[in-house]
Amino acid sequence: MVITMIRHDKKRNILRKRVPPYFKMLLMLAVFSQLSACHLIGVHAGSDTDYLSEKVLFNTDWQFHLGSIDSIKSMTDTTTVLNKKPSESLFWRTLTLPHDWSVEGAFSQANPAGNQGGALPGGVGWYRKVFRLDSKDSTRKIGIHFDGIYRNSEVWINGHLLGQRPNGFIGFDYNMTNYLNFDGRSNVLLVRADNSRQPNARWYTGSGINRDVYLIKNGPLSINDKKSYFFATVVKDTAVATLEKVNLERNSQVAAAASLHGQIVMQADLRSLKPVEVTTEIFDDAHRLVVHEKKSLQPVQTEGVLTLSSIVPLENVRLWSPDYPNLYTLEVSVTQDGLLLDQYQQKLGIRYFHFDARNGFYLNGQRTEIKGVCLHSDFGVLGTAYQYSAMVRQLKLLKQMGCNAIRTAHNPPAPGMLDLCDSMGFLVMDEAFDMWQKKKTKYDYSKDFALWHKRDLEDQIKRDRRHPSVFLWSIGNEIREQFDTSGIRLTNELVAIVKALDSTRPVTAAMTETHAAKNNIAKAGALDILGFNYKIDQYDSLALNFPGKALIASETVSALQTRGMYKDGVINETVAKMKDSIIYMPYGPKQKFAPNINGDWTLSAYDKIAAYWGTNHENAWRAVKSRPFIAGTFVWTGIDYLGEPVPFPYPARSSYYGIIDQAGLPKDIYYFYQSEWTDKPVLHLLPHWNWQQGQLIDVWCYYNQADQVELFLNGRSLGTRKKGDGNKHPGDNEFHVNWQVPFEKGTLKVVAYKNGKEVRRELVKTAGIPSNIQVIVDSSTFRGVLGDLCYLTIQLQDKAGNPVPNQDKLLHFDVQGDAHLVGVNNGYQAELRSFKDKDYPTWKGKCVAVIRPDKTKGSFSLHITGKNLLDKTVQVHFGK
Ligand code: GAL
Repeated sequence: MVITMIRHDKKRNILRKRVPPYFKMLLMLAVFSQLSACHLIGVHAGSDTDYLSEKVLFNTDWQFHLGSIDSIKSMTDTTTVLNKKPSESLFWRTLTLPHDWSVEGAFSQANPAGNQGGALPGGVGWYRKVFRLDSKDSTRKIGIHFDGIYRNSEVWINGHLLGQRPNGFIGFDYNMTNYLNFDGRSNVLLVRADNSRQPNARWYTGSGINRDVYLIKNGPLSINDKKSYFFATVVKDTAVATLEKVNLERNSQVAAAASLHGQIVMQADLRSLKPVEVTTEIFDDAHRLVVHEKKSLQPVQTEGVLTLSSIVPLENVRLWSPDYPNLYTLEVSVTQDGLLLDQYQQKLGIRYFHFDARNGFYLNGQRTEIKGVCLHSDFGVLGTAYQYSAMVRQLKLLKQMGCNAIRTAHNPPAPGMLDLCDSMGFLVMDEAFDMWQKKKTKYDYSKDFALWHKRDLEDQIKRDRRHPSVFLWSIGNEIREQFDTSGIRLTNELVAIVKALDSTRPVTAAMTETHAAKNNIAKAGALDILGFNYKIDQYDSLALNFPGKALIASETVSALQTRGMYKDGVINETVAKMKDSIIYMPYGPKQKFAPNINGDWTLSAYDKIAAYWGTNHENAWRAVKSRPFIAGTFVWTGIDYLGEPVPFPYPARSSYYGIIDQAGLPKDIYYFYQSEWTDKPVLHLLPHWNWQQGQLIDVWCYYNQADQVELFLNGRSLGTRKKGDGNKHPGDNEFHVNWQVPFEKGTLKVVAYKNGKEVRRELVKTAGIPSNIQVIVDSSTFRGVLGDLCYLTIQLQDKAGNPVPNQDKLLHFDVQGDAHLVGVNNGYQAELRSFKDKDYPTWKGKCVAVIRPDKTKGSFSLHITGKNLLDKTVQVHFGK
């Protein structure tokens, strides 16, 4: 074995001084196992590339058809497919994956998913892709990989059924080699997704191939990326002493000693017995090569599984955390006779943590409050079709809010999300199931659990265990088996499945039964951490009921809000009576739907309303913040999602729970979290300032980093307020202050003071009628990759440029140039116009247009018109 230590020149690279040497090889084992009969395959390379194993994105040029088809045979028969009659083109349309057909449909009460499922259609959808393979590929093993299909998928290649997968949230692959044409004839890949049996979830799931697809071409040697992975553990005894050492250059923590554990599993079907060379390289986040090592193996047989395990001591490693998500890149290349056979790449984030029953969660030796949100996979106008730009945009918003953790409710997320959590810095509670054998909705996964749970859970752990962001496995959410003894058996079984594949992370479940004797999941004794949803009044008794157990508030809040809705900001007698109490909607289990109090299926944006099992944001956060033995919180939810529009029936069709609305526009409560969860200065005033003369208005302010704040109306002071001064000013608390202000037109200004000096100010002005359209372009989520998106936020303004907060307009959107409109969204939970409509209304003066460039570089213009509005055109250049 040759290990080359890379040292950087002192002048050019200060790294050398701080972190030499990086890695030393301690132990490397190489074993051939499971060898079958030796077949030496003749070496007949047409070119170098037929050796290489590849995984190629296979998302473009798919055809889609919704509904029934004649027969599998006719749909996969290449003659029929290629000699399409004109009517056939109507039948099948061409698209690029990922795709969700449900979101293209119309909202309707008649859709069987119900408003709980987003009131959008399900059905059976077919996807077809015609492709040719080179004759050189005939020596390779060809597979197809799906990151996920919702749901009940079946896949055929050239008429041969490859397999079925009921679970809609997990990735899988099939070997197609034996059924493929390599002689220039076409191959037809056909996929059926069946989401017709509804309801099968408690929220909107979308339908179809809603995640990426890859074509896999394996040469004579391929690295099995499910079985191969690397992780690092920090050697604490030595690290603790030096952990305080702060790296000035990066301001991150450095651990003195760690161990890299690696396992590379290769499937070999070699063409010769020449030595196989395995090169491992590690780069730091500035792309500097820090380790280069080469291992030469002499195969004794050509076919079998090759396993290379290693434990490598590391020194002075920069640790990964949400604040400093330092990542190393590890690359393994395998060559034979100078030809590259396969490559493996993995990001490496090195961190250590533990949970403590008394003091919560410690990351890299420091107590860290988990400030998390629960997220469903919902990407606004895209439905559940995973897309990089959509995910980045959501995570950026959450990051700016101070959120440091995500719970993937209640299923494995798209793999790309975990890559982003690694690089942007989020801890992830990676959840497997919303139900086990006992159903929650009529056609849900409970039907598949018995046959599939082992496979699905194993695949999730194998897929996700390489991610430093993943810190907790959750085997389920509010699982009904917690109430009977089958919960004990199943908990033990599921925890064992997880532990067999990953012993480095704790396992939890999000539970509701707080009595130890009645909670059969906790009783199993197999969970490392106990997660409890809601029941904040019982936090103290939890510590007594489950002594010695580390606790996490796996789900909190379930408050309900509509962005920009302040009708109850007008204080009349009724409002005054209810002022400081929370309104529960529904008020209890007996009330299915709450009354439509505002007449438009909206709920107040003040933090006042919650589902009866939850509470408002401030209460829930207070309960967690004041109890160090609770490791942190996961707020339900970070972002509104389609479906589950508690407390209303149709036409409400998306949730009210989000801190951010479904269009990606923050509600006021976002600034409460920002003021509590970040070091950023925050000063936020609500509501808007468009009322009737003389109405008494409840004005709230969230702020931080100031001693007090003062409110001015048209220059007159309305008094100062200080958080936590509740006795002096009823309604103030430690999180917000308030004034009751008789409305008069003009400017409401709040000024924050620190040590007697003004540190910041915020103005809200009375707006006139809408006259202008302001467009804020965000093309930062477009990387120059086809499929990426640009987000344009539209704001109605009056003549003077003030945002109009209380009047809406139907707008017409027209995109010209190298791009097209994907959809428009306004975040209003009862908006029934399709996201895909080119005429779309604002909600409380705002909406978001999503535009997809058709090229990697170019420009487009968005032209927006509306009645009595000045036309607006914006020109956007994208790509570098
Ligand atoms: C929880 C459940 C979530 C969501 C939430 C709404 O009990 O775990 O999936 O339904 O309620 O309040």
